[in-house]
Amino acid sequence: MRIILYTGKGGVGKTTIAAATGIRLAALGYKTIVISLDVAHSLRDAFDNHEKLVHQHEKKQIRIKDNLWIQEINVQEAIIEYWDDVYSYIRSLLNRSGLDNLVAEEIAVFPGMEEVCALLYINQYVRENSYDVIILDCAPTGESLRFVSIPTTLEWYMNHIFKLERNLAKLAGPVIERVSSVPIPKDNYFQNIQDLFDKLEGIDDVLTDPKITTVRLVTNPEKIVIKETQRAFMYFCLYGLCIDAVIINRVFPDEVDAAYFQAWKQTQQHYIKEALNYFSDVPIWKVNLFAEEIVGEQGLHRLADALYAEINPADRFSGESPYQFRKTADAYQLSMRLPFLSKEEIELTKHGDELIVTVGNFKQHVALPRSLSNKKTTGAKLTGDQLVIKFQGESST
Ligand SMILES: Nc1ncnc2c1ncn2[C@@H]1O[C@H](COP(=O)(O)OP(=O)(O)OP(=O)(O)O)[C@@H](O)[C@H]1O
Ligand SMILES: [Mg+2]
Repeated sequence: MRIILYTGKGGVGKTTIAAATGIRLAALGYKTIVISLDVAHSLRDAFDNHEKLVHQHEKKQIRIKDNLWIQEINVQEAIIEYWDDVYSYIRSLLNRSGLDNLVAEEIAVFPGMEEVCALLYINQYVRENSYDVIILDCAPTGESLRFVSIPTTLEWYMNHIFKLERNLAKLAGPVIERVSSVPIPKDNYFQNIQDLFDKLEGIDDVLTDPKITTVRLVTNPEKIVIKETQRAFMYFCLYGLCIDAVIINRVFPDEVDAAYFQAWKQTQQHYIKEALNYFSDVPIWKVNLFAEEIVGEQGLHRLADALYAEINPADRFSGESPYQFRKTADAYQLSMRLPFLSKEEIELTKHGDELIVTVGNFKQHVALPRSLSNKKTTGAKLTGDQLVIKFQGESST
């Protein structure tokens, strides 16, 4: 079983490359599903699929050909399937604020819902072993990071807030309801969250296991795009995901020799060289800009040939997990690969059995193995792209 994420800045070619990868894998005999996590879906368009879908179940996984399915996550549908009561609660809360039903329904899809729904489907497919390969056509980088951060955030919420809230609602709910018009969630609301959590259980391990999940960053040879790819590289490492390739898409081929494009070609060469330097420890695959838009199976086949040639995209191209725990003679060590960072950008806090690494707006709670949770952090050092944190003795916290 493999899960491969394709992500990158808006418009770089994620959907087209994810679709081409699906076509290639299906042809190689893998039972494959390409799932689009972007709200502005264009996966069906990439396959040039305009079939009218009549039945509800057809809308979920659309069969494209032998071994190949696609799915565009529809939040409203997924919420009804998986999370009806929570949705009703949020809706009722919003209705009380005077919004009409339609508006309330739109708003009830709060940030992160798409990602949660996608995770629910993915975990279900993993548990039921429904496919050999799951390809994720992710939304532009920011949302993809929310997608990979949700499992740890949810776990943190369940461990720290959930029980407290549930007990509080039980105890104080009836009193509050008497004096205010705000509905207090009933216990089935909490039961629903518990069920949701149970359905997501294990997904974190699946996403951070480099044998199962790898990320491929799609980029274009331009300054701003390459810069964003570097940041994305670091953030995915922060969340413990293994990046196993960088794809530079839309490279001007040699035969483009019109004077008009000379400056463009030089710029591209410059940024390709930079990318080769920056991302030297993962393979870099280049794809030319085609002479026309890539739509439909034939175009996708051509793209897959250009991108993969003899490569089997289901393979892994970098095996190392970004986190390593090591025991040295007198201490324990946690190394995290966090490239493209300076010391000033990292903040570390240890809190009981978790280490909190903060970089800008992103926070990662790293659950420490029990053997480290009672140790003190005695130093942290950033060498190259490795952040090495030492633990010794008994902890004071
Ligand atoms: N190498 C290429 N040569 C020619 N056209 C390309 C190439 N790669 C992508 N395209 C075209 O560029 C357009 C945008 O590509 P695509 O939809 O895959 O990008 P995306 O990264 O998924 O965008 P979004 O961020 O909006 O989801 C499509 O029309 C696609 O056919
Ligand atoms: Mg897309």
